Amino acid sequence: MVPLLLCSLLFLNVLYESKSQAAQHTNFVIVGGTGDLARKYLWGSALRLFVENFSENNTFSFYAGARVSQTDGDKALNDILNSNKCDSNDPKCEKLRPKFLENAKYVVLKYDENYTNLCNTFRTEKGPEITIHQIFYLSIPSSAYQSVTHNIHSNCRHEKISSTKVVLEKPFGLDKESAAKQAEVISEHFHDDEVHRVDHYLAKSVSKQILNFRAKNREILDELLNGQFVDRIEIVMKERIGNKGRIDFYDQTGVVRDVMQNHLTELLALVAMELPVNISDCKMIEDYKLHLLRQVKPVSSDALLFGQYAKYVEEAKDEIKNIDQSHLTPTFAAALLQINNPRWRGVPFILTSGKHMDERTSHVRILFREKEFCVSGCADGNSTFTKYPRQLIFQIGHGPVPSAGILVSKSLFNPSWPSSMKELPMTSKDSAIHGQSPGDFHYAVPVVDTQAYTMVIHDLYHNNRESFVTTARMLLLWEIWDNVIKETSLTVPRLYKEFSPVNLNFTVDGLKLRYLGQGQSEYSGKFDGLEMPNFAVIPPLFRNKTLFCKPLKDLVKVLATYIFKTAENAIKERNIFHIAFSGGNTPVILFKELLGSFPLFPWEQTHIWQVDERCVSQKHENSNFLSLHDNLIKFTNIPYFNIHPMPVSFAGKICAHESKGDNLYEDMINHLIPAQVFDLILLGLGTDGHTASLFPGYTHSKKDKRLVALTKSKADGNFDRMSLLPPLINNAREVTVLVTTKEKHSILQKISDIQTRNKQYPITYVSPVSGNMSWFIDIEAWLGQ
Ligand SMILES: *[C@@H]1O[C@H](CO)[C@@H](O)[C@H](O)[C@H]1NC(C)=O
Ligand SMILES: *[C@@H]1O[C@H](CO)[C@@H](O)[C@H](O)[C@H]1NC(C)=O
Ligand SMILES: *[C@@H]1O[C@H](CO)[C@@H](O)[C@H](O)[C@H]1NC(C)=O
Ligand SMILES: *[C@@H]1O[C@H](CO)[C@@H](O)[C@H](O)[C@H]1NC(C)=O
Ligand SMILES: *[C@@H]1O[C@H](CO)[C@@H](O)[C@H](O)[C@H]1NC(C)=O
Ligand SMILES: *[C@@H]1O[C@H](CO)[C@@H](O)[C@H](O)[C@H]1NC(C)=O
Ligand SMILES: *[C@@H]1O[C@H](CO)[C@@H](O)[C@H](O)[C@H]1NC(C)=O
Ligand SMILES: *[C@@H]1O[C@H](CO)[C@@H](O)[C@H](O)[C@H]1NC(C)=O
Repeated sequence: MVPLLLCSLLFLNVLYESKSQAAQHTNFVIVGGTGDLARKYLWGSALRLFVENFSENNTFSFYAGARVSQTDGDKALNDILNSNKCDSNDPKCEKLRPKFLENAKYVVLKYDENYTNLCNTFRTEKGPEITIHQIFYLSIPSSAYQSVTHNIHSNCRHEKISSTKVVLEKPFGLDKESAAKQAEVISEHFHDDEVHRVDHYLAKSVSKQILNFRAKNREILDELLNGQFVDRIEIVMKERIGNKGRIDFYDQTGVVRDVMQNHLTELLALVAMELPVNISDCKMIEDYKLHLLRQVKPVSSDALLFGQYAKYVEEAKDEIKNIDQSHLTPTFAAALLQINNPRWRGVPFILTSGKHMDERTSHVRILFREKEFCVSGCADGNSTFTKYPRQLIFQIGHGPVPSAGILVSKSLFNPSWPSSMKELPMTSKDSAIHGQSPGDFHYAVPVVDTQAYTMVIHDLYHNNRESFVTTARMLLLWEIWDNVIKETSLTVPRLYKEFSPVNLNFTVDGLKLRYLGQGQSEYSGKFDGLEMPNFAVIPPLFRNKTLFCKPLKDLVKVLATYIFKTAENAIKERNIFHIAFSGGNTPVILFKELLGSFPLFPWEQTHIWQVDERCVSQKHENSNFLSLHDNLIKFTNIPYFNIHPMPVSFAGKICAHESKGDNLYEDMINHLIPAQVFDLILLGLGTDGHTASLFPGYTHSKKDKRLVALTKSKADGNFDRMSLLPPLINNAREVTVLVTTKEKHSILQKISDIQTRNKQYPITYVSPVSGNMSWFIDIEAWLGQ
């Protein structure tokens, strides 16, 4: 392996050096050793480490630990090892591989005793003279870190062991608090120097060259890398793959947590940090990185854009039960970051990442300002490309170039390459690379292109900290992203088409990012079978009234809380709370929430009324009152006299006009509710625009002073109905409208204009005179999907 800048911890160095003559043995345990990561990368990397460093005096034992039985584990490990072959033409590897296989075993790691047994073998098997190291690579869900690190600590801390390393994979928490908590739990048992949090992006061969390259061209870059010359810096990770098969995980993370908060911001630090005089001094590198990260301003919510590929929610439906969150999960994001120091003030750092993009690439692209003006001969030229733009590109992984490397526009400067890189002539099947002709670049690639995880394992073994994230840095990374992730948790992403995200172009507008174009409307109509929603953002108001728009479960919580607070206030002020509920199935989930989460609801001072009722007996399955009773009333201690069903059945007759049930209800309201002001009325909305039992065609004359009336619906079995009327509804202190399910999307679109007010859509007559009105609309209804 080519010598790389070695940034190691001093005390461990000393430890290795002092024993370098004596024999050493390393016990390498992969906890979760038959899982995905282990299968794909870790065992292959272990083989490479063994081939590189095994000797008579430098021996290894490898263990795959997991919870499955010995027989199943043996088989699983065997399959993995068989699939990890040597590279062709590597005789050294072929020769040593059998020895490696001999030294790789599966162990059951399920109970405390299993750790005790395993670790006992570490200190006894190799005789007294040997120096023994142990490495535990935790390739398991982070929820298991606490118990596993506890087990390691309490069973494997023998004085004969010279060094212990624990390796952790992301996610390092889901936010600042959980990350800090995780760090605290780990630090109870392990010294910071023993803890290795992997960021495999830092182990990529070109990431490793960034500081080398900067140091090699220190003078010119020191002059160029600042706001005077740099127009902007783009840090990009685009993938072709999507999230099929891992929606459950992705719903919890989303693209920002998954790659931007860690990989892309780490790249930003490598490019933007001041360059230490001695880039072999790892302590100094870390200090400079921390210093830079402290100068990065926390991302603001208007500097962050979200997208989601169109089939995401469809995929979610196949994989998980509750897709409420899936509507909001970003699979694409763009962010503008600012660095508050003299070098970078005013230079936008644009981070973008997405799934199912048009290409696969990851790079850091530094674009320089145009400093020359063409006055003469500007129009001719054979190439479609001018010598501009001038740029410096770290192509970290896949992309338009034949192999990951560093590109410098010839018009920018003639770079010196570190000895660990070699210059190549640029050949590309593409006609343009990052907007320039391939021939216009100087181009070099790392002499050895080591796979990232092989580098992680190499660094781990050799005490090189470059591929790992310190606790301090991890927490600073969260400082940049934590707030904005929380603030934007309900932002609806813009949908884009898989592999053709044409509507994601955006622009930097001062300190904000803005999508170009009107978004969906430009791509209106059918979109791979999906109707594009008009409602790409959630505004604070709908029809000029307060809007609450959330996934259904959250929405119901908010509404229940709203009702509870209103009840408390009413009782504080007037000692009584009058509420009227609509019928139908929609409120049932609300009733459950009220009963489940508000055991102290003041039912004893509450009066329950009905907004609407079908003309059927109270025992009929279509009776709204029956539903209200069975789902709410019977579980409460509400006094019998506080319950006010609509008198649809009277003296043996159902809604007979001569029985004047509507008048009766009006009288009861007049009698019990001062000025006929309800404290709260809960309405629904039909797909046809009806509300209460006011159906399309309903007209209301200004002279009509009635508060309750019999109505008719042509739909719904032609039942006669009884309903509260707009003059009464609009008198209420609080009117809330609960709208759920995607079927309601189309009616929401039709009434979204506040000017719309007509008999086709009776809901448009609802507009409280002096009270408040709030819409509670779930995400499905809002988006129509
Ligand atoms: C291994 O260590 C022993 C004891 O220190 C020493 O005698 C021997 O020469 C070493 N072997 C090699 C190959 O370095
Ligand atoms: C491991 O191998 C590398 C490359 O052969 C060598 O430079 C290094 O000294 C070895 N390290 C140990 C601890 O044996
Ligand atoms: C693991 O521990 C359990 C509980 O002590 C024990 O029954 C089992 O035999 C152990 N398995 C191995 C492989 O040590
Ligand atoms: C750079 O730092 C390394 C590691 O701390 C040290 O060994 C080396 O002597 C330093 N070089 C200079 C020129 O100071
Ligand atoms: C265009 O290309 C031809 C042939 O390669 C060359 O002779 C000529 O100078 C070029 N013209 C310009 C303006 O670069
Ligand atoms: C997005 O920008 C690219 C590059 O300028 C352009 O080719 C493409 O047409 C743009 N897309 C749209 C929809 O405007
Ligand atoms: C929206 O409501 C505000 C106050 O609530 C009012 O001043 C304004 O006129 C309303 N706008 C429309 C278009 O009704
Ligand atoms: C409307 O809501 C505001 C704020 O929640 C509240 O202060 C006010 O009392 C409400 N108005 C009525 C008429 O209930």
